[in-house]
Amino acid sequence: MPEMETAAFETDLSLFKYDNLEQLPPAYRDLSEGERTERIEAALDELGDDVVILGHNYQRREIVEHADFVGDSYGLSREAAATDADYVIFGGVTFMAESADIITDASQSVILPSMEASCPMAGMAEALQVDAAWAELTAATDEEVIPITYMNSYADLKAFCAEQGGLVCTSSNAADAFEWAFDRGEKVLFLPDKYLGTNTAHELGMAEETVEWDPWDPESKDAIKAVDNDIILWEGYCQVHERFREHHVEQVRSDHPEANVVVHPECRREVVEAADVVGSTATITETVENADPGETWAIGTEIHLANHLDRWNPEVEVLPLCGDACMDCNAMRQIDPNYLTWVLEELLEGRERNVIEVDPETKERAGVAMDRMMEL
Ligand code: 13P
Ligand code: SF4
Repeated sequence: MPEMETAAFETDLSLFKYDNLEQLPPAYRDLSEGERTERIEAALDELGDDVVILGHNYQRREIVEHADFVGDSYGLSREAAATDADYVIFGGVTFMAESADIITDASQSVILPSMEASCPMAGMAEALQVDAAWAELTAATDEEVIPITYMNSYADLKAFCAEQGGLVCTSSNAADAFEWAFDRGEKVLFLPDKYLGTNTAHELGMAEETVEWDPWDPESKDAIKAVDNDIILWEGYCQVHERFREHHVEQVRSDHPEANVVVHPECRREVVEAADVVGSTATITETVENADPGETWAIGTEIHLANHLDRWNPEVEVLPLCGDACMDCNAMRQIDPNYLTWVLEELLEGRERNVIEVDPETKERAGVAMDRMMEL
């Protein structure tokens, strides 16, 4: 396997904005899988309809096994909006739990079992930095700029986008969100994932009209030059997906000539171009579920999903696209099943642990950007 290359990773992994972070008590640290499963099931029986567990496709097997719904960011948002449960336990990362809090009622609590599960990409576009960029860009043009933020961002950025006439999108509706924006303005500022932005621009036939805006590089921040383009891409990326390279696709095709390749749109443009199918984690899941028995699929996304697909589809040969070098998501991994046991047992005692609560004003504004997405 050729040596992996990876871009430097500048963002503070510990980005953390809540002051109610609670760590796992020692008594929960060494539970065996058998004991844990028994205790989780007993707690869920007792809590009944008061609790719903939502699990992102990248969660560990021991989390998705207990989830009422497993899916992509968009599907999880829909489930959060639909549930009447008093407690939404989110197997995912902070921005997902925040989004669930934004679209649930004030009387419902969203619990993120470990609040250290923070997506580094979401931390790459801080609202203050975006404010500064926005002032420069809008001063450089008379045309309307519409901001779109990927779901992988914090609530304050979602609120900012709503205020400036923009919206939120996920990997499953980015092209629709761009079309929505171009119906209302002449330019789009897309945050924070430059690869999803590039791939969406290609999908819309607008590849030649993009420019990158790197908030850490003064040289790239030329507002006059930037607004000469229709799509301005914030310089953020996912360190799990940016590791995939074109040579991984070539290698898998040479080792397994019959293999098909499906990748996530957070991958680099050349990887997406070399793949057979590109789509959200729900599309990746459906692609493998709909494959004929005996087909081979190489999966270009986070390793837990590749492992789930292998387990869930024994008739299909499932390969991780870059073999042993495929990564798990460090943020998603923070949701340990011991934490799940603890937060459930605490609910039985009437205590809510690790509640994600977006402040009411931000919640209201961010909700506008989320609603615009839901209506796409
Ligand atoms: P999906 O919306 O496709 O589930 O992706 C979320 C994510 O964080 C991918 O890295
Ligand atoms: Fe964030 Fe990447 Fe993890 Fe998705 S896989 S949650 S984008 S770090």
